[in-house]
Amino acid sequence: MKKNLFIAFEGIDGSGKSTQVRLLKEKLEQAGQKVHVTCEPTGSPMGKIIRDIFNHKMETDHRTIAALFVADRLHHILNKTDGMLKMLAEGYTVITDRYYLSSYAYQSAHVDLDWVMQANSLSAKLLKPDLNIYIDITPEQSIERLKKGRETIELYETLDNLKKVHDKYFEVMAILKGKEKVFVTNGNRTPDIISQEICTALGIPLN
Ligand code: ADP
Ligand code: TYD
Repeated sequence: MKKNLFIAFEGIDGSGKSTQVRLLKEKLEQAGQKVHVTCEPTGSPMGKIIRDIFNHKMETDHRTIAALFVADRLHHILNKTDGMLKMLAEGYTVITDRYYLSSYAYQSAHVDLDWVMQANSLSAKLLKPDLNIYIDITPEQSIERLKKGRETIELYETLDNLKKVHDKYFEVMAILKGKEKVFVTNGNRTPDIISQEICTALGIPLN
């Protein structure tokens, strides 16, 4: 197994990304690796503005949201404190809960996909995942899971929007075939089974 990978988890809301990030971290650490877990939107001031918009504390246009994600992502890659390039250079395997495929899918439900890809092209040039892991659940399953765990519904967490985003993920994966490594896993199984499949895809020994 190649050491020191950069792995991005993708999927619609509630697909089980956080759960799988946690399980993968444990397995990589058992295999002796240093692991840095991170997510987007980040905890930076840009990420906080995005979360305020999603929690309906602030209103803005979808194009502005797309641009905020571009800025937050570049900071995520480049910042000198715990930026992903720095952590990778220090020998950490970096796992991010969402990266630019999220923008391609979520923002292109509202803004032209070519523009979103262009706007994120510097991020894609600076740091491409060794593997994107897309966890697939249906929009209906997403809403069911969100209802159980949440008191408020965020901006993009409606059935109509998640249907669009789900379609967009598949459209984007087809466009990126050969350019981007994506492993698709069926998220409608137990967390342990999904985790084992992800470990096998990454060549991590199962114990
Ligand atoms: P995400 O980070 O993609 O939003 P989470 O890992 O937070 O997803 O999971 C969302 C909800 O679904 C949580 O309540 C979690 O316990 C549950 N969950 C996660 N993985 C599975 C699974 N494979 N099957 C059923 N429920 C799951
Ligand atoms: P996240 O906290 O990962 O939500 P969840 O755990 O429910 O999947 O992401 C918050 C929201 O941000 C989610 O609705 C997806 C959205 N998002 C975008 O619209 N574009 C992006 O580029 C990213 C990273 C997230």
